[in-house]
Amino acid sequence: MATGKLLRQLIKSGIEGNAEAFRVASEEVIKEERQKQHHLLANDLERLLYGRPREIGQSPGRSLEKAPVDRERNLALLDLREPVRRLEDAVLSDETRSAVDEVLQEHHHKERLASYGLRAADRLLFYGPPGCGKTLTAEVIASELGLPLAIVRVDAVVSSYLGETAANLRRVFDFAAANAAVVLFDEFDALAKERADEAEHGELRRVVNAVLQMMDAYIGRSVLIAATNHESILDLAVWRRFEEVLLFEPPNLDQLRRLLALKLRGVRREFEVEDAAVTTLFKNMTHADVERVLRRAIKDMVLLGKEFLALRHLETAARRERPRRLRKQGK
Ligand SMILES: Nc1ncnc2c1ncn2[C@@H]1O[C@H](COP(=O)(O)OP(=O)(O)OP(=O)(O)O)[C@@H](O)[C@H]1O
Ligand SMILES: [Mg+2]
Repeated sequence: MATGKLLRQLIKSGIEGNAEAFRVASEEVIKEERQKQHHLLANDLERLLYGRPREIGQSPGRSLEKAPVDRERNLALLDLREPVRRLEDAVLSDETRSAVDEVLQEHHHKERLASYGLRAADRLLFYGPPGCGKTLTAEVIASELGLPLAIVRVDAVVSSYLGETAANLRRVFDFAAANAAVVLFDEFDALAKERADEAEHGELRRVVNAVLQMMDAYIGRSVLIAATNHESILDLAVWRRFEEVLLFEPPNLDQLRRLLALKLRGVRREFEVEDAAVTTLFKNMTHADVERVLRRAIKDMVLLGKEFLALRHLETAARRERPRRLRKQGK
């Protein structure tokens, strides 16, 4: 919990209606909670304060071109964000973690590689089911490299106007080349579907070709990451374009224990995360599911006025999560 001094500042500025002092005090609270590794709370507070994780333009000392827009509808093609979470915030399989480490190493020693005519890997493909850390890992790579995160808004890029989709893609790739950022193409499958898909008309085929050409021609300071949870529909030619392909899967038992320890850091509890009675509650859940159950359980604990998180809070929360998971699995 934030120190008394900070809380006093926070309440005082709130009562006085001093927006600037309130913002400063709130940011201090968030910083403090993050230092204590209370990332869930810090993220929630940040969302409350900014509406969503902080945008790049608002952070001092970084100059970045404005995000390009779709001409027809004036929609931003990219969401620019200041990455917050670090490597220790992601629980990954050994293979995925070492691939991430390798990519980071290559970028940390870019110049040395360049002196041998080599480039650090800058085209990565992340695949796997929802909620297992693809977007999180893109954020982690951005923060470890000290770069902003630019998330491509596929809904804005894909235009119903003939030719406009390819023009939007051009703008995104131009932005990536002109700036240093981690550019995440979320829902990449929507852009790069199997070219032979008969149901799709010629326009989509042209889009796929445009993406492939731009990927090939891309030279720049940004790291391009494509993420998908429909990897089977990706065009084969797309796979070849990526230097690293990383799989994100639901946690195994060891990863689940690490995830529980991470997300419950700083929460007083009556159980050990290794207890089988605890881990079985989370069987077959994705990381995001686990996080949601924990958040629910912690809320229950707080609302019931308890100081310790108990197994029964987890059980109730897991039970309440069940209908959503069954619906997701189509059962
Ligand atoms: N591997 C992980 N380690 C720690 N936390 C995770 C992990 N995966 C997911 N989470 C938590 O769940 C949230 C949602 O995950 P994320 O957005 O990264 O999933 P995703 O794989 O990108 O899913 P989608 O395919 O739906 O985009 C994250 O912000 C994080 O808090
Ligand atoms: Mg995602």
